[in-house]
Parts: sequence; structure tokens; C-alpha cells
Amino acid sequence: MQSNRRTFIKSLSAASAVIATEAVAKPFGAPAYIPNLMKISPNDKIRFATIGMGIQGNYDTQAALRNPDVELVAVADLYNGRLEHAKTAYGKDKELFTTRDHREILARPDIDAVLVVTPDHWHDHITIAALKAGKHVYCEKPMVQHLNEGKAVIDAWKKSGKTMQVGSQRISSASFKEAKRLVEAGEIGQINYIESNNDRFNAIGAWQYSIPPDASTQTLDWDRFLGDAPKRPFDEKRFFRWRNYKDYGTGVAGDLFIHLITGVHFVTNTMGPTRIYSSGNLAYWKDGRDVPDIMACIMDYPKTDQHEAFQMVLRVNFANAGKINDVTRIIGNEGQIEFSENNLIMTKKKLPTAPGYGGYDSFFTFTEPVQQEFVKRYDSLYPLDTRKADPVKEVRFEAPKNDDAHAKHFGDFFDNVRKGSQGTVEDPVFGFRAAAPVLACNESFFEQKVVHWDPVTMTQKNPAASTPSTKKKPVASAKTSTKKS
Ligand SMILES: NC(=O)c1ccc[n+]([C@@H]2O[C@H](COP(=O)([O-])OP(=O)(O)OC[C@H]3O[C@@H](n4cnc5c(N)ncnc54)[C@H](O)[C@@H]3O)[C@@H](O)[C@H]2O)c1
Repeated sequence: MQSNRRTFIKSLSAASAVIATEAVAKPFGAPAYIPNLMKISPNDKIRFATIGMGIQGNYDTQAALRNPDVELVAVADLYNGRLEHAKTAYGKDKELFTTRDHREILARPDIDAVLVVTPDHWHDHITIAALKAGKHVYCEKPMVQHLNEGKAVIDAWKKSGKTMQVGSQRISSASFKEAKRLVEAGEIGQINYIESNNDRFNAIGAWQYSIPPDASTQTLDWDRFLGDAPKRPFDEKRFFRWRNYKDYGTGVAGDLFIHLITGVHFVTNTMGPTRIYSSGNLAYWKDGRDVPDIMACIMDYPKTDQHEAFQMVLRVNFANAGKINDVTRIIGNEGQIEFSENNLIMTKKKLPTAPGYGGYDSFFTFTEPVQQEFVKRYDSLYPLDTRKADPVKEVRFEAPKNDDAHAKHFGDFFDNVRKGSQGTVEDPVFGFRAAAPVLACNESFFEQKVVHWDPVTMTQKNPAASTPSTKKKPVASAKTSTKKS
């Protein structure tokens, strides 16, 4: 982490200490961490706050609330309209504390957990501050924006003793659980290749989200939005369509590849790839964005004690005006698992031992006597029972109609909070191992290079001195205003 970023965090910390109440024992000053002394009794409600109440913030909040004995008590967001909307959506029958400043939430001793659902460039800052302040954290994917930010979050999590879940909720679905069971049982043999494409051809799908007509520096906190990104004049498109800019988002890799990689890591117990290469282009959505709308990526996963070496190939095309046929397949040497919506289809296919002869083969080019000798030898080598392939079998798994992966992902988080455990299904070590390959895709694209990654130590072997995707930007002053909306 470079010093300007440290300074940024420090400046937040200093300002926050002013806001913090006595009861919170200076969550941002020394000692750096509030120890995990409190276990929540099974009868107590977990009181949580959502930081970033945009599209996913609402979906996350609703999924969290589908669990028993949890309560939303506060919301932080930078746009007044979203704070007002939150009050009507979640605060009809109670007082809902709202603020533009997430530090006011971290300073409240009555809040047990926070959901970090901001744009990607804020994930690490808020997560680390929240852990230091003694909060349990559910952080949206990708856990961090750049490769060199993951370890600080892991470190903060370990020191805090708090529970943390990263939010690629699909791994909590029944179909991913079933895929894991099938792979672990060896049903498709050794995995050798995984592929997935996720194409779109519509404006909203390509992240041209609606912009409210009242967007202005009066109704939203532009300076705070910028955070550690370069300072620039107000631009409503950057605020409401931040995914299109590499200063705040992580492009198609961080938005879409991440879900598949998380699923693959969950199913295969892998730690990650060693070599990552991507290429892409901005082909269609030339609306000022500086990230590609077409990207393909190849990753090499090395052999481990959990799996053989396999290759993963991922693609997104936001300009696919042809037939869109999205598919995700895990291919082994005895079959494949294909995901379809929330279900999966496993096809089992095992080759016979005998290789066969004839057809498009060299056999017919031999002389008659050589052919006869060949057949004699073949018959002695391959008895009849080695010549038959097992019939191709198709097994379909349909997830229960009410399978609610999103609520279950939160359920796992809350269960661990109650137990005082750090053992969530997507803890920050898992979360960073899944995020790293997608962040490497971006670095590969912007730097036009192969990224070499050590998935065990979670270290980049060829870090860029200064690349567009990892370069630390000049520090934008974080406003310390505590103005409520
Ligand atoms: N798990 C999933 O399936 C899934 C789906 C969509 C989005 N996401 C993730 O959720 C996050 C949010 O995405 P979104 O689509 O909801 O974006 P969004 O733009 O709709 O909402 C982001 C909100 O965060 C607020 N915000 C920005 N900086 C803030 C700060 N410092 N403090 C408080 N609030 C701040 C903004 O005002 C905005 O309302 C992203 O990280 C994204 O990758 C995950």
C-alpha cells in the first residue's frame, strides 16, 4: 500500500475519532481494534446497518431481512434520494437512522454488523474501518478493487476476531452445493476445463442505469464518492454509472467473472490460477466509459492435492446482437456439469479402454495381411468387455422452488456472528482468492501482459510498478461532514 493511500485512511481515522462516542473507545484510534468480546445470544436480534443503499444495497438488505431475528437500524448513502427512499421502504414503523457518513454508523455501539454495498473502490476502506470499530462485516464482491489491497482486509479481519462474509451469494444455492458434492464424489472424473460466457445486449445490462433528475452536488456527496480516486468535477454519470469507470469499479471481470470464479473455487476447493491473460475491446457502448464491453480471459489452474490442472476460459460480450446462449460448464474426463438458471445438468460419458479401429483411421490404408495381423493383436489385447462405452447418462438436479441463495448467504453470516465464529462460507481469504483472478484480468487487459499469481501466498509475482489498474491515485480529501439527510 502506498503512502498516499495510507494517508487517506489515516485522515478518515482522525476525522472519525472526533465523531466516535466515548462508548466506542475510539474505534479509529489506538488501540486499533475493538476485540471480539461480545457473542450475540441466540435470542438477541442482530442489529445491522447498510452502507450503500443503491440497487444491490436494497436487494442485500431485503435478503438479510428474510432471516429471523435481525433488524435494519441504520443506513448510510451519499445520495439524499436513496436515504429518503430507505426511510419509506424500511423505516415505516420505526426510526431509521440515516446519514451520508458511514463513520457515524461505525461509531454507534448499538450496531453489530454492517453491509458494505458501495462501489468497489470503497470496499476495502469501509471494511477495514468497520472491523477496527468492532463490527461484523458483509462486504459485496469483489472484496477489493486492486490486487494489492486484499491482504490488508484479511489482516484486519484476523486481528478483529469478527465475522466477515463476502457477497457472491450464488455459492449458497442448492445447485452449487450439489455441484460440489458431484465433483467431490468424482462423478465427472478429473476436471480439465471450465468455460462460461455471459453476454448481454441492452443498455441497462450494459450498466447505463437510470440517473435521477435531481442529481447535483446539493443532493449527493460527490467528494466523498471520489474517495481515493482522482479528484474531478461533478459528473452524474460517474456517480450513478460508476461501473463504467476503472477509478471506481472493476469492469466486466469484477462484476461478472467473479461470480463464476467464486463458484468454481467453492466447487473444486481450488486456491486459484497461476497464470491469467485477458484481451478485450470497447466495441459498442462508447458512452465515455473507460472499461471494455468485450472481454475474454484464459486462466491456468495448476494441479493441487484437490484437483488436476485445468484451464478456465471466460467471456463477456455486451454487444452480442446475435443469439445469446449463456452457458457455464465444468468439464471433466468422465462428464460435465452444466449450469442452467438455478439448476444443473450432469452428463456422464466414460470412454471404453479399447481405442477401436476403422472409420476415419489409418486401418484401411494397411495391406490386407497387415490388417489381419492388426485385428488378431487387437482381439488379444482388448476382450469384448473393454470395447463398450458406458451409455451416456444425464442427471438433472432441480433446486427446490423456494431455494433462496441470497437469504441463505446472509443466514450463514448471521449464524457465524451468533456463534462468535469466523467460519463463513466466503470469508475474506476465500473472497480474496476469488477476487484476485478477476483483478488480474483487468491488469492483464490494461497492461497487455500475462499476470503471474501465487494463489497460495496470494502474491503477484510480476506486480506492475504503476499501471492504470493498480496505480494509487492522488488522495481526494474525504469530507468530514456529519450532515444528516
Ligand atoms: N452480489 C451480487 O450479485 C451483486 C449484484 C450487484 C452489485 N453487487 C455489488 O454491490 C456493490 C454496489 O453495487 P450497486 O449496483 O448497488 O451500485 P449502486 O450505484 O446502485 O449503489 C451504490 C450506492 O453506494 C453509495 N455510496 C457510494 N460511496 C459511498 C460511501 N463512501 N458511503 C456510503 N455510501 C456510498 C452510493 O450513493 C450508491 O447509492 C458493488 O460492489 C457491486 O459489485 C453485487
